[in-house]
Amino acid sequence: MIGYQLLERAPLRARNTFGVEATAALLADVRSPAALAELLDYPLVRQSEVLILGEGSNLLFAGDFDGVVIAPATTGIQIIEEDADRVRVRAEAGERWDDLVRWSVGRGLHGLENLALIPGSVGAAPIQNIGAYGADISQSLAFVEAFDRDQHVHRTLAAADCVLGYRDSLFKREAQRWVVTAVAFDLRRSADLRLDYAGVREEIAAMGVESPRPLHAAEAISRIRARKLPLPSLLGNAGSFFKNPSVPSAQSEALADRFAELPSFADGDGKQKLSAAWMIEHCGWRGFREGDAGVAAQHALVLVNHGHASGAQILSVARRVADSVEQTFGVALEPEPRIIGARW
Ligand code: FAD
Ligand code: EPU
Repeated sequence: MIGYQLLERAPLRARNTFGVEATAALLADVRSPAALAELLDYPLVRQSEVLILGEGSNLLFAGDFDGVVIAPATTGIQIIEEDADRVRVRAEAGERWDDLVRWSVGRGLHGLENLALIPGSVGAAPIQNIGAYGADISQSLAFVEAFDRDQHVHRTLAAADCVLGYRDSLFKREAQRWVVTAVAFDLRRSADLRLDYAGVREEIAAMGVESPRPLHAAEAISRIRARKLPLPSLLGNAGSFFKNPSVPSAQSEALADRFAELPSFADGDGKQKLSAAWMIEHCGWRGFREGDAGVAAQHALVLVNHGHASGAQILSVARRVADSVEQTFGVALEPEPRIIGARW
C-alpha cells in the first residue's frame, strides 16, 4: 500500500475549524514514517513551501496556499513502559488529542485531564505546548518523535529539548524544519489533581462528586469549556485568537490604577500576564459582527465565522480589535493561530 494520497488544487474548507475557503496547490495525507520521508525527498516538495496540517483548529487561511500541505495521518496509542507509579504512553500524530485524553482518564491515569476537549491532533500538541485550566503538556511530556527536514532524518527529542513555553516551542519557531510524527507522555497512576482554576472545584461539586479522579476533572472542564467556547462545527473559530500578553509589572500596576478590574496574573521574571479577553470586551468588541466575520458573543477572545466570511475578512476584524486594545491599553496583542497567506 502506498503510504500517502496526493490531491492537486485541494479544497481546505473542511480542514480548518474557521471553515474559510482556501485551496492548497498540493495536499498529501501521509500514513507512515517511511512515506513521509519519501514524500519530503521529492525535488518538487524540497523546493516548495510546506505546511503541516493537523485538524486546522489553530490556523487562519487568509488566502490560498501555494505550496504542499502535508497531513500526518498515522494513528495508534500504546503503553511503551510502565512501573508501579508511572505509565509512558506513545501516541501517533494523527490521533485526535481528546481521544488520547479520554483514553488516559478512562484508565485512571493522571496528567492530561485538564487538557480535555482541546480540539486538534496529537501531533500539533507540542507545537504551542497546548494548555488550559492550569496545565500544559510540558508537565507530562516525555519525548517527541519528529522528522527533521534540514537533516532528512527521523529524530527523537527529549522534552527538555523542545523548548516549551506559553503557546511556544522549538517546532513553532522552526516551522519549516519539523514534522511531528508521534508524542509520548509520562502519566501517573496517582497524583494530586490541579483544580485551582476558577470554576473547576465548583463544577465538580455541582456534579455531586466528593472524591474526584482524573475522569471527573476532565468531565468538569469539558462542561465549562462547552459553555464558554463556541463549537467550531456550529460556529467557525480557532479558539483564542490572541495570546494573553505578558507585560512588565510596572506597566501592569499603572494599568491597574486606571482599570481596577483588569485581571492579571504573576508571570515570573517581574512580569504580569493580562487578560486579552477582558481588554477586548472593554473595547466593546464582544458580539461584534460585520458580514459573516465577528467576535463571539460567548467569549471576547474568540473570532468567529458566521458562515461565509473569508480569512481576509476575519483578519481585518482581528487587526481592528488589536488596534483598539493598543490605543486603549498601550498593549500589543499577538495572534495565537498561525496565519497563512498574510503577515500580521
Ligand atoms: P493545526 O491547526 O492543523 O496546526 C497548528 C500549527 O501546528 C500549524 O502551525 C501547523 O503547521 C502545526 N502542526 C500541526 N501538526 C503538526 C505536526 N504533526 N508537525 C509539525 N507541525 C504541526 N489551544 C490550547 O492550547 N488550549 C486551549 O484551551 C485551546 N482551546 C481551543 C478551543 C477551540 C474551540 C479551538 C477551535 C481551538 C483551541 N485551541 C486551544 C487551539 C488548538 O486546538 C490547538 O492549538 C491544537 O493543538 C491545534 O491542533 P491541530 O491539529 O488542529 O493543528
Ligand atoms: N473574560 C472577559 N470577557 C470574556 C471572556 C473572558 O472579560 O468574554 C475575562 C474574565 O475575567 C475571565 C478571564 O477573562 O475570568 C479568563 O477567561 P478564560 O478562563 O476563558 O481564559 P482566557 O484567558 O480567556 C485562556 C486560554 C484558553 C484556555 C483558557 C482556560 C489563551 C490565549 N487562552 O483563555 O485557550 O482554554 O485560558 O485555561 O491563553 C486557546 O488557546 O485557543 C484557548 C481557548
